[in-house]
Amino acid sequence: MKLPIYLYGHPVLRKVSTDITPEYPGLAQLIADMYETMYDSDGVGLAAPQIGRNDRIVVIDASPLAESFPELDGVKLTLINAHLEVLDGEKVTRAEGCLSLPGLSENVNRVEHIRLQWVDENFQPHDEEFSGFLARIIQHEYDHLEGKVYVDHISAIRKQLIKSKLNNIAAGKVRPDYPVRFAPRRK
Ligand code: NI
Repeated sequence: MKLPIYLYGHPVLRKVSTDITPEYPGLAQLIADMYETMYDSDGVGLAAPQIGRNDRIVVIDASPLAESFPELDGVKLTLINAHLEVLDGEKVTRAEGCLSLPGLSENVNRVEHIRLQWVDENFQPHDEEFSGFLARIIQHEYDHLEGKVYVDHISAIRKQLIKSKLNNIAAGKVRPDYPVRFAPRRK
């Protein structure tokens, strides 16, 4: 089932998500729904806050980027209860976008190497290091679990320049071609 994607300005995107347990109700279906929602909206990653749940669940399928980054071919990851450690302080700048911020793309500085600990959909533990663009995708999705979005990383000047676009998203004045939930109206 396709789920609506919560857009920038919604408070659910600003809360820190919590770990889940194997007893989480309907987990397998939720993960399947998250993949379906991500594929339907042409995303390469989706975090649970983006579908309105502050739970540490992320799905990634980086295959669509394989033309630019051959190492991403077939890379599919279900990350539950992920916890991230930065391994390399050197930062690289690349353009990013986000399903919760339709129509926007901005350059973001991120580190090249990370270590991630997580459990998969069967609650088997994993501990791996990632680098390159996959490390960037993971950091982007991990940000969502920490209540952050990628525009939090851009400069104040740049943020000022796209302020009206951000305000339009938060005010519900965008119509992406996938189902969305807007932020509740401010009184
Ligand atoms: Ni995102």
